[in-house]
Amino acid sequence: MEAISKNFFLYLSNNKVLDRLAKRFGTNFGADKIVGGETISQAMPIIQKLNHEGLHVTVDHLGEFVASEEEARQRTEECMHSIQAIATHGAQSEVSLKLTSLGLDISRDIVIEHMHRILQEAAKYDITVTIDMEDSSRCGQTLDIYKELKAQYPNLGTVVQSYLYRSDQDLDELSPLDPYLRLVKGAYKESGKVAFPEKRLVDDNLKHLIKKNLLNGHYTAIASHDDAIIDFTKQLVQENNIPNDRFEFQMLYGMRNETQAQLAKEGYKVRVYLPYGEDWYGYFMRRLAERPANIAFALRGIFSK
Ligand code: FDA
Repeated sequence: MEAISKNFFLYLSNNKVLDRLAKRFGTNFGADKIVGGETISQAMPIIQKLNHEGLHVTVDHLGEFVASEEEARQRTEECMHSIQAIATHGAQSEVSLKLTSLGLDISRDIVIEHMHRILQEAAKYDITVTIDMEDSSRCGQTLDIYKELKAQYPNLGTVVQSYLYRSDQDLDELSPLDPYLRLVKGAYKESGKVAFPEKRLVDDNLKHLIKKNLLNGHYTAIASHDDAIIDFTKQLVQENNIPNDRFEFQMLYGMRNETQAQLAKEGYKVRVYLPYGEDWYGYFMRRLAERPANIAFALRGIFSK
């Protein structure tokens, strides 16, 4: 049953008609529980509230699979605008972005040009930018672009997904760059040719990657809501005397709020991934696919309006 609902929501996440419809409704449609509004001005009070509670943030201007150069340029401007807003408000926030929103599906040159503009702006204010990882067909290109840009911009991170067979080798290849990596399980629908089909193997591989990256001495973001992963990390850092400033926990906005607060209280660095923007539909559907309990949570949001 769980696999059916997962596949159903991952299928819906790519539905263009529903995507257009969702834009018309706005985030009021239950999505505001996990999305920080449609503009950076709407997201800013949320960032400030999270900061006030001792939580760090990474904001993501929602949007993916952009098909026109004009749209990719607008997304670039929006990223730069969010960097400027973070700096103006003195907020504790990084920025996350997806390369397909900057034109990855149009041309590599366009993405590289847009990334240079964003990274130069971020460097002015010492703000870290993390490239989210999308589906496996874009993984190789994304990591190549990361490697090219990381040499020039130290404040650049990216994501490695434990469901992919290739990720162990990717960690080896990224290691000489002293990468800033967010380690996740992976959120897209992937075939058994490229990804572990069993959840247990995905979980085991995430533990393996966390251990490897931390013991290699690289700063690591452990992005999971799973207690087993969080407890594993706590034990690992304790056994290996890894100080708290060498890693952080990351969770999505609106998920496990009490756990976020508890970890921060225990002295761990916790970063909340806060998406905002009109293009919330694909993100929302992937979250529903991950956890059926989020469905009830979202429906309650709709009916309580
Ligand atoms: P998982 O879904 O495996 O659940 C394991 C257990 O954790 C559950 O049984 C439950 O006990 C608990 N749990 C999970 N969610 C819960 C909730 N909401 N409330 C209460 N308990 C919960 N993916 C990707 O492909 N590319 C990317 O760039 C990113 N970026 C990213 C950033 C951040 C900050 C996070 C947290 C996640 C991502 N992801 C991602 C998504 C990631 O790949 C993955 O799909 C989700 O985090 C779900 O996996 P988990 O490890 O969180 O728990």
